[in-house]
Amino acid sequence: MTPFARRRICVIEGDGIGHEVVPVAVEAMRAAAPDLEFVYAEAGFECFRRRGAAIPEGTWAAIEGADGILFGAISVPSEEVPGYEPVILTLRQRLRLYANLRPTLSPPLPGLRRGVDLVIVRENTEGLYVRTEWGDGGCAVALRVITRGASERIARVAFELARKRKRKVTVVHKANVLKRTCGLFRAAALEVARDYPDVEVEEMLVDAMAMWLAAAPERFDVVLTPNLFGDILSDEASVWGGGLGMAPSLNIGEGPPLAEPVHGSAPDIAGKGIANPVAALLSAAMLLEIGLGRAEEGRKLREAVWEVLGAGYHTPDLPGAEEGEVDTVRFGELVCACLRGEPWG
Ligand code: NAD
Ligand code: IPM
Ligand code: MN
Repeated sequence: MTPFARRRICVIEGDGIGHEVVPVAVEAMRAAAPDLEFVYAEAGFECFRRRGAAIPEGTWAAIEGADGILFGAISVPSEEVPGYEPVILTLRQRLRLYANLRPTLSPPLPGLRRGVDLVIVRENTEGLYVRTEWGDGGCAVALRVITRGASERIARVAFELARKRKRKVTVVHKANVLKRTCGLFRAAALEVARDYPDVEVEEMLVDAMAMWLAAAPERFDVVLTPNLFGDILSDEASVWGGGLGMAPSLNIGEGPPLAEPVHGSAPDIAGKGIANPVAALLSAAMLLEIGLGRAEEGRKLREAVWEVLGAGYHTPDLPGAEEGEVDTVRFGELVCACLRGEPWG
């Protein structure tokens, strides 16, 4: 590794199962790339309740000096909590991480469909996520902001990615109803498409997309979406990869790349030691490979996860033989042993 390698990772476990899956991912990153340095920082709902700030000043300082961020998950109550802002949205917006890459790949698991290999490219900064709402008990309004600049920017990410993959982009929108907002997203994406004549482009209304994603997921390569549609469709797509416990993501843009599983804090299983760490592990691999340009180490980490799954080890959320069932920590130990070339399994 050169002395200039990007190696400082800010670790934010967050809430709930973030405390369980992130330590597994950190250990595996250490095993894959021993020169990495980890700086721990707090953020999330537990932090807000304890310290009065969802992202304390010290966390911003830790992020400032970091080459990349490994993020677990946070809790965001559906009721309004005065002063609490969803941490992950603040980070994406303040760090101008405008693209969220959410891949789904058929894993080596029994009973799961083969041949799914798609990436949802989710716009990360606008749409309904500008979170400007007003109203009273009788009528409420939310602002949906779409700009040409942000739409072209995310479209370029999608088309560039498609060039490295199967050369197909599906533009998802609802321009038949939302003629101004989705209409602008669609128009910007189709204009950018003209610069990529080598990439096949198709457009699809989001309702039909939800159906095709369930019926024939293997027909997709890169799926380009506005913010909220990407949020919803990535949970749906995760089913083909083995569920939410298996779905990784990487946020990229101007600030340090931020890796995070697609899943949330999973309060229903938090504290039980059974959360699937694969989503966090694969997010860490994306951080190395795409975020930090440390392709070889990222690939090694991803392949170790695949090897351990392929050998039949799995947390209880996944299908498979009972004798292969392990808890969160054990799964991580197996991945680390595999990475270090030690005997395992
Ligand atoms: P969730 O993703 O936390 O959980 C949905 C279901 O998937 C649950 O049954 C859970 O047990 C299961 N699941 C999730 N991750 C798993 C894993 N690693 N291994 C095994 N099973 C797993 O979504 P939710 O229940 O709708 O939300 C819970 C909280 O998380 C809410 O407060 C929500 O706002 C928040 N959330 C945060 C993020 C984030 O931080 N990026 C993402 C989604 C939801
Ligand atoms: C995600 C989550 C977040 C989102 C929430 C927790 C704000 O669902 O990362 O997918 O909606 O983006
Ligand atoms: Mn989501």
